[in-house]
Order: sequence, then structure tokens, then C-alpha cells
Amino acid sequence: MSSLVKDAQRAAQRVGLTSDKIVINGGKPLRGRIEVRGAKNLATKAMVAALLAETPSILKDVPNISDVGVVTGMLEAYGVEVSSVGTGQLRLDPKNVLKAHFAQIDALAGSSRIPILFCGPLLHRLGEALIPDLGGCRIGDRPIDFHMDALRAFGAVIDKSYEGIRLTAPNGLRGADIELPYPSVGATEQVLLTATLAHGTTELRNAAIEPEIMDLIAILQKMGAIITVEPNRVIFIEGVDTLHGYEHRALFDRNEAASWASAALATEGDIFVGGAKQIELMTFLNIFRKAGGAFDIHEDGIRFYHPGGPLKPVVVETDVHPGFMTDWQQPLIVALTKAHGRSVVHETVYENRFGFTDALIEMGADIVVHKDGLESVSRRVPRRPLEQAAVITGPTKLHGADIEIPDLRGGFSHLIAALTAEGQSTVSNVGIISRGYEHFIDKLALLGADFIYEG
Ligand code: EPU
Repeated sequence: MSSLVKDAQRAAQRVGLTSDKIVINGGKPLRGRIEVRGAKNLATKAMVAALLAETPSILKDVPNISDVGVVTGMLEAYGVEVSSVGTGQLRLDPKNVLKAHFAQIDALAGSSRIPILFCGPLLHRLGEALIPDLGGCRIGDRPIDFHMDALRAFGAVIDKSYEGIRLTAPNGLRGADIELPYPSVGATEQVLLTATLAHGTTELRNAAIEPEIMDLIAILQKMGAIITVEPNRVIFIEGVDTLHGYEHRALFDRNEAASWASAALATEGDIFVGGAKQIELMTFLNIFRKAGGAFDIHEDGIRFYHPGGPLKPVVVETDVHPGFMTDWQQPLIVALTKAHGRSVVHETVYENRFGFTDALIEMGADIVVHKDGLESVSRRVPRRPLEQAAVITGPTKLHGADIEIPDLRGGFSHLIAALTAEGQSTVSNVGIISRGYEHFIDKLALLGADFIYEG
């Protein structure tokens, strides 16, 4: 069995899904209302932050996704009591933090990338940290050099062994002066989670400023941290002696909201995404509108729909916030196969994030991936050496196929492709989707999709 299939099965088990295949009869517009809850890319980090406190924290709107299960497992291995205190509400009590056994940590190896963020909090609480080999989507090399360099700047000593990554801090952790080579989301979170309890002040330059990072900063401030966000991606963190627990409602999942929006457009449907908010989606909404999609902003969510008429091609570059997120391009590309003309998507964040287009091409899409990117006169984002470009020419009709999901966002785009296709598709490895999309099978049913899922 391939490691991808094993990952998919483990992820599915964590959220109680028993079958790894869904059979979809395409051609039916998705219509109805679904709710999005807390963001995968915030809730999991907020859970790690609870480890820094002396008292319990309460996190609300936690989605039932497998990455939350992985972080729960890591926290429990280190003695944090994680209990459910209502629908989507977790109580995280760190009073009995203790060293984990290798076997407990190893059982979580390869499941997610979040465990890397335990480094700073564990060094503060226990003086050492053992981190399993990381997992996450296979969308490029995904190195952790920025994380390791930052931790060394704080005074951590790092050993890599067969067990994973072992860190110690013989002289404690001191505030540091750090400039990231790229505004990495994870490395910025690593610095925030390490600097809050370090001795002295940390200056972080070229920081990521995604809304999920701002929400993490809000949580840390509730806990007693002193963090100042300056213009031009500079963040100052003044170390404090102790932090206490927080009570917080996680920011909504804007990646999930954008995915359902693209599903509405591609299937010529009409989806009200409860819990979605405009500000965090502004860049997405502009492109959605340029592509011919329509939306209405409401107090409790956003209605995304196909207003009739032909879809239009767009040129888009993925980028760090406030640019167009790399996690939004995959579902959008399915809608762009229906647009009249040639669209170009430049992927500038990861070096291998168009693998999912193979299946779309097999289903009849006209997509050419340029593995070394494309020169373009009208670029907004400076070209990075790792980028690729996808040229999508439409409109094309997709037909059903047997598809194996390769990664989270690419996987969701495969579901959408199958929903728009003529005929039947069998999509396997759907467990991977449960890493980031809560109750996606129930949501498909609510939206009137025609599918068979036995599990
Ligand atoms: N990078 C390095 N070295 C590092 C860290 C990052 O070279 O030490 C590079 C990466 O290889 C990549 C770029 O920097 O080319 C950006 O990576 P970043 O660190 O920003 O990404 P991340 O923190 O690993 C998070 C999300 C991703 C999302 C990106 C970009 C989580 C758990 N993951 O990843 O989400 O695409 O930020 O916004 O927060 C997803 O949800 O499907 C997903 C992949």
C-alpha cells in the first residue's frame, strides 16, 4: 500500500470516515447553505499556543478535521488534557505537562506539519522537545530551515536523529533578531510561539501577515503577551514571564469558503457559505468576480453563485497575504476550465502545486503546465525561481473518470471536477480531504450532489 493511501486512511479514521471512495454522478449544480467553522490553519496553532499557558484555554469553532486530531494526539502525548466542552469547543488544560514517550510521538509521524510548532512551547515548558517527522501535503520540498535557523537564534540546540528532531535550550531562550528569507506562515508562527516567553525582545522582519497569523497574535495577547505589528512586515515581541489560558473563537476557514465558492461557480450553482466574511476574502472575491462569478455579502455569510452567461478567463498569481492564496488556485482552476478563453495561474509559493491538474486533463480539460513558470509582462508578484504556471484554455466539457486524490486542495478540486463532469467518477483517497474540510460528505449531500458514499 502506498504511503499516500495509508495517510488517507489514517486521516479518514481520525474523523470517523470508513470508506475511502466516493462515486459521483456529475452534472448537477450545487445549491443550498453550508457552514464553515474555524480555520484549519488557525485552530491547530491556537491549540499549540495553549501549551504556553499556566491555566486552561477554551477554543471555540474547532472544526472536526483530522489535523485537529493529530494536534490533539501531540498535546495529549505531552500531558495536556484535551476535552470537548460543547459542539466544536475544546478545553485545553496544560497543568500536567510532561515528557512524551517516543512511541507516542512516533505514532504521529508523517501526519501533519503542525508538530514543528511545538518546538518553542515545549522548550519553555520542559527544557526539551522531541518532534516527529513531519507530514502534510506533497506539494514541494517543504523545508524547515527557516524554523530551525530561528530556533537557533533564540538559543536552541538541535539534533536530528532516527527518532525525529530533538531540541534543547541549555541556556534558556533569549529574544532574537530575525529576518526571514521569505514571509513564511509557519516560520512566523514559530517565532511568535517561541518569543512570547523568551527573555528580552524579539524583532522579526519579513514576517507573514496572513489573517490566521493576526488571529494567533490576538490569542497570544489574550494570554498576556506583548506583540506589536509594525508596517512593512515587522513584528516586535516583548518576552513576558508567564502566560495564562485564553478563550477564543477561531477565525473562519477562508480556504474552505473559497473552495465552496469555486464549487458553486464550476457547477453553475448557488451556495450560501455561512460564517464566511468579506475582509479576509477580498482578494479572492475580486478574482471570483473577474471570472464571472457573483456574490452577495450578508452579516452571517456570503452567497456565491453563477449568475448565468459565460465565465471569463483570468490571469492570477498566488502570493503571500494580501495576495491570492496558493490554497485557492486548485478549486478555481476547475471553474476556469469552463471560462471562454485562456486563463493563466502562476504558482509562486510552492514548487509543485499543479500535480492535481493531471486528473483534470484526463477528464478532458485543456491545461498545460509550464514547470519552470512563464515570463509575463503584466506580473504583479516578482518572479521566484521555484514557480510554475498553468495555462487553462476553455471552455471544455469534463467527463467522468477514476481519480486518486494527491493532496488536500488538489483533492477538493477533483471532487468539484467530478461534480461538473458528464457521467460517473470514482474518487479515491478521500480521507485526505478530511484533513481540512469538515463534514464534507454531509455538506455535499446538503447541497444536493448526486453521489454514493458507503461509510
Ligand atoms: N519555506 C522554506 N523554508 C521553511 C519554511 C518555508 O523554504 O523553513 C518555503 C516553503 O517551501 C514555501 C514557502 O516558504 O515555498 C511558504 O511556506 P510557508 O512556511 O508559508 O507555508 P506553511 O506554513 O508550511 C501554511 C499552510 C499552507 C499554506 C501556506 C501558505 C498550515 C498548516 N499550512 O503552510 O496550507 O498553503 O501556509 O499560505 O498553516 C493547506 O492548508 O492545504 C496548506 C498547504
